[in-house]
This record gives sequence, C-alpha cells and structure tokens, in this order.
Amino acid sequence: MSGAREQFGSRIGFILAAAGSAVGIGNLVGFPVGAAKNGGGAFLLMYAIFVVAICLPVMLAEMSVGRHARKDPLGAYRDLSNNATHWKLAGWLSIITPFMIAVFYLVITVWIFGYLYEIITGDLDILANPDTFGTFINSEKIFVYMAGVVAVVYLILQGGVKEGIEKAAKLLMPTLFIMLLLLVGFVLMQDNAMKGVEFYLVPDFSKINASVINGALSQAFFSLSLGMGIMITYGSYIDKRADVPGSAKLVALTDTAVAFTAGLMILPAIFSFDPNTNPDELSESSIGMIFTFLPKIFLALQDSIGYVGASIVAAIFFLQVFFAAITSLVSIFEVPVAALMDEKDMGRKPALFVLGVLMVVLAVLCALSFGYNAFLTEFVSYAGAKKSFFDVVYDVFYDTILPLNGFLICIFVIYRWKKHNFNKALDEGAENYKGSFFEKYVDVSVGTFIPVILLLVFINTVAVKYFGHSLFG
Ligand code: PHE
Repeated sequence: MSGAREQFGSRIGFILAAAGSAVGIGNLVGFPVGAAKNGGGAFLLMYAIFVVAICLPVMLAEMSVGRHARKDPLGAYRDLSNNATHWKLAGWLSIITPFMIAVFYLVITVWIFGYLYEIITGDLDILANPDTFGTFINSEKIFVYMAGVVAVVYLILQGGVKEGIEKAAKLLMPTLFIMLLLLVGFVLMQDNAMKGVEFYLVPDFSKINASVINGALSQAFFSLSLGMGIMITYGSYIDKRADVPGSAKLVALTDTAVAFTAGLMILPAIFSFDPNTNPDELSESSIGMIFTFLPKIFLALQDSIGYVGASIVAAIFFLQVFFAAITSLVSIFEVPVAALMDEKDMGRKPALFVLGVLMVVLAVLCALSFGYNAFLTEFVSYAGAKKSFFDVVYDVFYDTILPLNGFLICIFVIYRWKKHNFNKALDEGAENYKGSFFEKYVDVSVGTFIPVILLLVFINTVAVKYFGHSLFG
C-alpha cells in the first residue's frame, strides 16, 4: 500500500514482538526434553554458544536487511541486489517457507486450543487417556477449533503492526512469563522435583556426538525464528534510530531464558510423577509430550490438589503454550501478508483474506492426513518410511530448509549487499556496537564460517532425512 510504512511504536514493543515470535512450542517443551536427553548441562552450554556465536549474527543480518530495505523479504532481496534474478529466488524462499510453516503450525496451535477448551470444560480425565489424541485429531471438532484460532490470528493481524502485533505481544508475553514462573514455583514444590532438576542441569559430556551437535544448532536456529523471513519483516518495521544489535541480543536472551526456565517446569514435573523415569525413553517429539504424556501428569495431581486443582494447573499450562504459539503464528503469517501488501500494493485486510483462505485450505489438508483421508495419510515415501502430507510439510519446511535460508542471507549481506553497507546499517542507532569486539566478530564470521556451518547442517539434514545417510558417520 502506498503511504508511510507501519512501524512498531516503541523499542520494547519491537523486542516483545520479536521475542514473541521466537518463544514458541519448541521452547516450552521441545527444548527441555531435548536438553535432558542429550547431556543436560553439556547440551545447555553448547546451545548457549550456538545462540551467541552463530544465531545472533544471522539475526543481525536479517534485521538489518529488513530495516534498510523497509520491505518484505522478497522486496528486500530484490532491491538490495538491484533486481538480480537468483537473489529473487532467495526472496521467494523466504516467503514460501514461512507460509508453509504457518500451515502446519496452525494445525498444532488448533490442537492446543482444543485441549485448552476441553480442560476448561472439565475433560482432563479424557485427555489423559493415551488413546484420546488419535481420536481427537481426527474428529470434526477440529474444524471448529480451527475457526477459533484463525479468528484470533485475524483479529490481531488486521490491527496492523502497532495496534495489532505490538499490542498483542505486550499483553501476551508478560502474561506468559508470569504463568511460566507460577508453574515452575508449583512444580518445584512437588516431591522428587529436585531429581528432575538434577537430570536437566548436571552435564554429561559423553552424550555429545555429531548428531547431538547438529540437533542443538538446528534447535537454536529455529527457536530464534531464523531463516523464516520473520526478522527481515519485523526489522522493516523499525526506524533508523533503533539499536538493532542491542535489540537482537535482548530477543535472543529472552528466548533462551524462557527455554531454560521451561526446563525447570517440565523435568521436575516428569520426575515427580515418576522418580524412576529414564529420560532416554521420553519421546523426542514435542507433540507426543504435550498431547499424551503431560495430560497424564496433570491428572495425577488430583491426588494432592483434587480434580479441579489439577485441571487449573493443566489449563494454565495449555494457556501458556497457546499464547506462545499465537505470537509465533502471528509473526510467521505476517511475512506473506507483508509480501502481498508490498509487492501487489494490496491493503492489509484483502491480503489477510486471500492468504488466510489459502492457509486454511492447506491446513485442512494437513488435518486430514492423520488417517482420515488415505491419499493424504500415505502421501509419499522416503528414507524407507511412508509420509503423510503433514509430515512432508514439516520435514521440508521446518526441518530442512531453515539453515539453507540462513546460509543465503549470510552470503547475501556480505557478498552482494557488501560488508561495508551491512556494517554501516548495523552501526546506525547503535552507539555501543561501533568498534566493539562483537562487531569485529560479526564482521568476520558472517562471511566465513557461519555460512559454511549452516550449509553443512543443511546438506547433512537432507542426507539423513531423505536418503537415510549421515555425513558424520
Ligand atoms: N521459535 C518458534 C518456536 O520455538 C519457531 C516458530 C516461529 C515457529 C514462528 C513457527 C512460527 O516454536
């Protein structure tokens, strides 16, 4: 649309919105379980190093490209490369990736919303039955819940950057922090909680191998919402006076702090339910944990605090995950919306409508691919396994392509946009950054080893996922 580009109203608004994107389902469940299974404190240390040494520089690249171009990712790649065709391809990837991730993330958010609703209406006992999840995801109720989630996302996004995204983040994120702290406090008071804390924090370096390292880096990368065009798009809504490096550091810190704190909630809860839990046997998938394992743990609380008490704790947990998911969903859906608005000069509401319809159609196809429809359930097969439509979207867009997008943005800023322009853009509004050690580090790393590492992770993931072979033995 012509006219001034929308902007975040304050620095804290931008930071909360970007942190809202970064804090998602992965932080609250995937990270703690992954850490506990893969070396505890040793994993945490490695993860923290990856966040600072690899992810933060990539976040700076994304935010500064967005802020400088003041465009959606496609427009940013195009304008800063003087219309080079191959860079437009990278731009397209940065729009298609978030759109497809939004599709399957919508499906998971719908399940969370459904579980929340059913807990509030008194059905925690039903959800705690391990067979419920399978029936739940194939029931027609899903479409009602989907309408609910789509309405919430629409309501937020139609308000625009300041009145929609920023306002929602300012409300949801602090509430999420409070709920998380409440739950941590409650869980730590349960019997055997400390056993869980021990498992989470005591380092076991013998667990660290090439695939754990690869996994930790991928987890850090996607947890910070990198490679999805989000930080380019959100960066395009801040002005030249904003301090990009300072804000990015706070976003990374918030995201990591929430993931770390979530571990103090999830592991003690698991161990107080069963002090003899062997974390190696816990499911790696966040989905299994959230929808089958945790409801059982919540229900067991009824022995000490009664059914209503147990339902309240479960509801707070699901509300917290729902808030985390909504702010991520909003951020990722904003990318194609911004692209349609910028590239086709469309208004916000028509863009939301067109993309919303398309997203719902694809999300319905995903929702039907858990056994409801045979064709979608056994869509393709690779690496010796049958894959559903949902699996394909998940594998390709969530699990594979992000490091490739990260590789592309690094090469782009240093070799196409050029290092001195990238540096100048980062210096703007950032007094403390100029001449700092971190500036020198970013200067060297983004053009050298960071893209090399990201490319290796990408190639290895393709080899493992689609061909069943690992580069690292
Ligand atoms: N960081 C998010 C998470 O942990 C990743 C994400 C962002 C996913 C936006 C979807 C949309 O879940």
